Amino acid sequence: MARPKTVYLCQQCAHEAAKWLGQCPACGAWNTLVETVRVERPSPRSSSGNAVRGGGGAFGETWATLAENQDAGSSRRVSVPVSLGHVNPDEAPRRTSGIGEFDRVLGGGIVPGALMLIGGDPGIGKSTLLLQVAARVASGGSRVLYVSGEESARQVRLRASRLGALEPSLFVLAETNVEAASAAISRLDPTMVVVDSIQTMWSDALASSPGNVAQLRESTLRLMQVAKARDIPIFLIGHVTKEGNVAGPRALEHMVDAVLYLEGERYYSYRLLRAAKNRFGSTNEVGVFEMTTDGLAEVTNPSAAFLAGRVARQPGSIVTAPVEGTRALLVDVQALTVPGGIGIARRTAIGADLNRLQLLVAVLTRRLGLGLGAQDIYVNVAGGLKIVEPAVDLAVAFALVSSFQEIAIDDGTVVVGEVGLQGELRPVGQVERRLAEAARLGFTRCILPAGDVDRITGGRAKRSTLRPDSETSKGSERQASIMWEGMSLNGALTVGEAVVEAFGAGALRRSHSSGGRDGPSGEDRGDVGARGGRVRHGLAASMHDVSDFDGDDA
Ligand code: TYD
Ligand code: MG
Repeated sequence: MARPKTVYLCQQCAHEAAKWLGQCPACGAWNTLVETVRVERPSPRSSSGNAVRGGGGAFGETWATLAENQDAGSSRRVSVPVSLGHVNPDEAPRRTSGIGEFDRVLGGGIVPGALMLIGGDPGIGKSTLLLQVAARVASGGSRVLYVSGEESARQVRLRASRLGALEPSLFVLAETNVEAASAAISRLDPTMVVVDSIQTMWSDALASSPGNVAQLRESTLRLMQVAKARDIPIFLIGHVTKEGNVAGPRALEHMVDAVLYLEGERYYSYRLLRAAKNRFGSTNEVGVFEMTTDGLAEVTNPSAAFLAGRVARQPGSIVTAPVEGTRALLVDVQALTVPGGIGIARRTAIGADLNRLQLLVAVLTRRLGLGLGAQDIYVNVAGGLKIVEPAVDLAVAFALVSSFQEIAIDDGTVVVGEVGLQGELRPVGQVERRLAEAARLGFTRCILPAGDVDRITGGRAKRSTLRPDSETSKGSERQASIMWEGMSLNGALTVGEAVVEAFGAGALRRSHSSGGRDGPSGEDRGDVGARGGRVRHGLAASMHDVSDFDGDDA
């Protein structure tokens, strides 16, 4: 006879308590314990002691039940340790998903028996992507099962016809009960299964509602059992929710073999698929997709895609080469500086880190004497890509200088480097990869930290001894560059040196000539803003400018 047992389960850490508590004693979160009723089936093993419970709490028991069902009637399986050298090293053959970018992220294809979690914000395209993958695998004639807990079979069919994914061997099952889904998997014996989504699944063994962390883990364990026992790869779709107390895929990360995240700005068309964990390949590998009306399309040349639409020789636009996973991308970093109005100047960063932008503004103001203090500043990474790598610092700094001074950089120049608080350029690593990508897209010059040039050329490069304010720098700077695989490399030690290299000494002189280094006081800023003057360089000197204005006005 099954008898129900009530426990209180923390929705954050799955700690199990016998009574309700305001704060979880294990993780310290407040108000996360939820009453969970579990149906325990008495069995000879669990009644004869705790031998198979193994300290797994609620889940240990589940395991016991599953193990029992598996070898019902047979005697207990005996596990024998094997010397590591005797383990068969041959990798199980991977199955291609038919979508190159998807295989790339998985580490070269789908591994049989793997349990994989695809996370992402609602509406980002998870169902679309997995339905496409399911259809591609099914198009080879092998059976694929799409378990839909969110949409009806009809809705899935409509989506499939829109995506051109109506394959005869692609099966759909509208089901939220995990035992029923497992049974269907056993009957159909497909080569791959997609479960959309794991949050909608619930198990008979628990009386709590779907989406609850206990249900989530229970359902995942059941599906893991099926995947391992039948050697079927299973993809679980999971929503990432902003509130930690709603059980999200994070609670499952350690249970599955691979965790992929589909990311992107909702209103841009590019989507990145990233591996956050992968037992069968490297992590941080990235696949790039573009959203179209026919579903997600692979972007095999992302750099070209991200640079499409860029207007060359435009002030405030700089190309840089961040590395995503093992691949370098080229992106256009744009900045716009506008004299601010009254009050605190505005700083906006889209696709770049706002804190780093503020740091760069401070460095440029202090080290190069640019009067950015009173400017409203907007930075945008074109294409909706989010870049967190500090290697884009120099490009952001250049975009600011370029917009502020209204001077454009030459067409063929790409820029990488991390900027420190002293204005020094720090090496970024993986330079060869970045340069190769830039060269492939026709760029001919790279401005980068001297340390990186030294490393890749083995110290052969002779650095120039330019000073930012040197009158002759324009003429001599070319000597500083060395050729490397068709690219001309300009190594610089400081951001000032790099700016002179890129734009000439004039980029700094104009701001120097207009005076002060530390930006205007609030009062000056207000004055200039209120006058709505045209772009005036070096607002730091605005006291002087303001009196000019007064003269004009009078
Ligand atoms: P969907 O796959 O349902 O997102 P998720 O499963 O992550 O919640 O996609 C959301 C919507 O976007 C859906 O209405 C279909 C649409 N869409 C396209 O039209 N084209 C595409 O390439 C993608 C990915 C989505
Ligand atoms: Mg969906």
